[in-house]
Amino acid sequence: MENVKNYIDQHKERFLRELFNLIRIPSISAVKENKEVMYRAASCVKDVLISSGASQAKVMDTDGWPVVYGEKIINPYLPTVLIYGHYDVQPPEPYEQWISHPFKPVIRDNKIFGRGADDDKGQLFMQIKAFEFLVKENKLPCNIKFLVEGEEEISSPSLKKFCIENKKMLSADVILVSDTPMLSLAEPTITTGLRGIAYFELTITGPDRDLHSGHYGGAVNNPANVLATVIASLKDNDGAVLIPEFYDDVMQLSPEERELLNQVSFNEDQFAKNIGIRKLHVEKGYTALESVGIRPSLDVNGIWGGYTGQGAKTILPAKAAAKISMRLVPNQTPEKMKAIFSAYLQKIIPDNVTYHLTPLHGGNPYVILYDTKEIKAAAAAIEKVFGKKPLPVRSGGSIPVVADFEEVLGIKTVLMGFGLHTDAIHSPNENFPLENFYKGIESLAWFYHFYTI
Ligand code: BES
Ligand code: MN
Ligand code: MN
Repeated sequence: MENVKNYIDQHKERFLRELFNLIRIPSISAVKENKEVMYRAASCVKDVLISSGASQAKVMDTDGWPVVYGEKIINPYLPTVLIYGHYDVQPPEPYEQWISHPFKPVIRDNKIFGRGADDDKGQLFMQIKAFEFLVKENKLPCNIKFLVEGEEEISSPSLKKFCIENKKMLSADVILVSDTPMLSLAEPTITTGLRGIAYFELTITGPDRDLHSGHYGGAVNNPANVLATVIASLKDNDGAVLIPEFYDDVMQLSPEERELLNQVSFNEDQFAKNIGIRKLHVEKGYTALESVGIRPSLDVNGIWGGYTGQGAKTILPAKAAAKISMRLVPNQTPEKMKAIFSAYLQKIIPDNVTYHLTPLHGGNPYVILYDTKEIKAAAAAIEKVFGKKPLPVRSGGSIPVVADFEEVLGIKTVLMGFGLHTDAIHSPNENFPLENFYKGIESLAWFYHFYTI
């Protein structure tokens, strides 16, 4: 095992070349016209799995974008690790804010820049390359399966059904995922929970066309004004959500659990500075880390309506809309959120406008116990490579399918991610430091060692 570092050193140029080939494919799952591109990305992953040592790999159709499945079964009596990752990426816009093109990966300041450099092409590659090392050096101590999907960034609408239909093929003892961040290289962490999500589009319609605001202003309820009032009624000035019953199912943590999660030395000022703001806005009574990890949130993702072009146009818009999302924690569910949000809107929206609430995506939250054999193996591997025991953190993002894995396949997931908050995932100039990439490969190789001894 000790020679994993050597192996990475000898092959790192090729690792990067292969990863760059995948980053060059603009596999944006949100774009409906992307069929050819998505199949090209899936097939690229399949080829890499084969050349990295999988005994078989295939691109499989789903109701949406294709899934890549690959495996190396060495002995059915040994444990099986199922690796999950995603080859799809978020849209790169705004293009003009990228220093280099999102789909022309480059290395600057010892970081890989490009859409998907971290999320999740770079992180998935660490998994594939740790696997390659074990296969090529004859050190694979268990069976390995890969499930790489193309719909994670649109909340995996087809994957649950795929899992139900392919339960046997996907059977495993544990699922291993690299798609989450660490606090820092100096302070490694293991993600022990993900938030769920409930995402909506709210449309408010008034008159049947845009109106002259002189003719009608003062006599007609303006959908944009109504939308603003609705949004203002969703949260108070301290950031608490005002929708009745919103907090009813929120799991409260014991003081001991909270203490454990606050062990990491999280620098709130630096966190704010990194994103160009003077001060954070966290929920009263909670630390910033808790606010994004163990508490639910509600945010407007986008808002539009009326005239937004150059200069002034005196109209009263026919329509206004917003995209609104909630991040959920145990035991909140997207279904319940939809019900209470609808009931609240029913109560606060006046009846001289019409509204529509459309759910876009949903996913359940997930938490894992820290004290399991799998997590201990992950922690030992990280300690071996980073020289420090990793601490547990709850991550604020969502990987909706992880809760489905437990429900459908009955398998627990270990989240061994090596990203950083500063990797700018979903933002312009997404990047992944080479050091994280190499240490990630090394740690993942050690995971198998500690998991099987
Ligand atoms: N890799 C992220 C999940 C993530 C991000 C976990 C940050 C922890 C911290 C994943 O690709 C992602 O972005 N998920 C989406 C899911 C959504 C589209 C349903 C997210 O969280 O917005
Ligand atoms: Mn991801
Ligand atoms: Mn993502």
